[in-house]
Amino acid sequence: MQTIISHIAEQTLDLGKQIGQLAPSPFAIALKGDLGSGKTTFVQGLAKGLGVADTYYVTSPTFNIINEYPAKGIRLCHLDLYRLGSADELEYIGFDDLGGPEDIIVVEWPEFLEEMQFKFDLEILFEFDADYNRVISLSPSGQTGINLVSNLFL
Ligand SMILES: Nc1ncnc2c1ncn2[C@@H]1O[C@H](COP(=O)(O)OP(=O)(O)O)[C@@H](O)[C@H]1O
Ligand SMILES: [Mg+2]
Repeated sequence: MQTIISHIAEQTLDLGKQIGQLAPSPFAIALKGDLGSGKTTFVQGLAKGLGVADTYYVTSPTFNIINEYPAKGIRLCHLDLYRLGSADELEYIGFDDLGGPEDIIVVEWPEFLEEMQFKFDLEILFEFDADYNRVISLSPSGQTGINLVSNLFL
């Protein structure tokens, strides 16, 4: 596991951007951490790194649960499962249509998917330290995730 301290939002954006630039498709990322810890900020950087056009404004899909953003050769699927009542509801939100070879999946509040043994390549935990910095821990699993993390400039 690798840990970095992010003092300002730009650092979290930059981490997302780097990961977006390096991520192969398909790739799946789980984002954990309390409200306001920087998960959506990370996804904004990720979108940039993947080449999602600036005309898309990336916000938390808290109410619509899934937002999709096309980019060259890939599709960014941003999920926020905070309001999902149970794992059964994943079917109704169209989760089964995701996970194609071009999909980069990034999930805020991923617990229901973990319950269903969904395999993430990378889990990222966002925590606050005493000075309100973000402590960001990267836990890759599998060779794809490990390769990506080892290529980051942290
Ligand atoms: N180091 C940092 N990393 C990420 N966000 C930060 C940081 N410092 C301040 N912020 C601010 O904190 C808020 C994080 O919100 P958001 O990314 O929506 O969190 P979450 O999706 O986890 O609820 C944003 O307003 C962002 O500008
Ligand atoms: Mg969010």
